[in-house]
Amino acid sequence: MDILTSKNAGILTIEFNRPDKKNAITAAMYQSMADALRDAETDGAVRAILFVGKPEIFTAGNDLSDFMANPPRTETSPVFQFLQQISHASKPIVAAVSGAAVGIGTTMLLHCDLVYAADNARFSMPFAQLGLCPEAASSLLFPQIVGYQRAAEKLLLGEAFSAQEACDMGLVNRVLPADQLLQVALQQAAKLVALPASSIRTTKRLMKSSQQAAIEAKIAEEGQHFRAMLSAPEAKEAIGAFLEKRKPDFTQFS
Ligand code: COA
Repeated sequence: MDILTSKNAGILTIEFNRPDKKNAITAAMYQSMADALRDAETDGAVRAILFVGKPEIFTAGNDLSDFMANPPRTETSPVFQFLQQISHASKPIVAAVSGAAVGIGTTMLLHCDLVYAADNARFSMPFAQLGLCPEAASSLLFPQIVGYQRAAEKLLLGEAFSAQEACDMGLVNRVLPADQLLQVALQQAAKLVALPASSIRTTKRLMKSSQQAAIEAKIAEEGQHFRAMLSAPEAKEAIGAFLEKRKPDFTQFS
């Protein structure tokens, strides 16, 4: 199972479990996560959700081979179902990030409520480097959180940044020694579980409701561009180069 889910003491844990491919996310994995989040909405026993990866890798983002083989064609594709569920989740979401969080590994955090990072965490959104564009409403939410210039640097250049930088810019709540990450994330999730669930849900909704429509619209707008760009020659060159372990050559495209 490339996505592991477990429910314990009010916490639904969703774990990336494909370490041989750096937890790269396939369509089937998006579907599993979307289904788990959908189920959590109606399961009264779930009062908080926790996303975790492996100590050495959170996730390398979209599985690039799978993306080329099974590109998301519509707004009902698994990746969009996942985005729909995570961006509408009424219950609090905690993320524990260690190792690299690439692409959606970083942008999904914009929809989490509490984000804890190990000191080895590295964040990146290399969409432009792949001939693609931002997703998950990151082109709206990331500039809001960190300011336009800092967002532009991370989204245009796509270079990785450290846990401390992510914390300084407000993407991450706290940086922790790697061996304490899971314990602290679980403690924080347990605190949420112990509080009145209706107050937690209402507080979250109040913080988010004023821009829910804008987030939905941005996810749809980004999705249109993303789907078109995925079949364009720039992305084919970039993704082909990654899979063939060579440097991409974009000089042929104007
Ligand atoms: N899609 C598909 N396969 C991926 C992948 C991805 N996003 N990320 C890693 N893999 C695969 C590699 O192809 C390799 O497979 P192989 O062993 O069959 O050759 C394996 O996972 C290990 O990856 P490798 O690159 O050797 O690991 P690393 O520790 O040197 O680097 C990363 C880790 C995450 C920095 C690097 O794999 C990477 O940059 N991945 C691509 C990230 C990306 O662009 N994601 C898409 C964002 S939209």
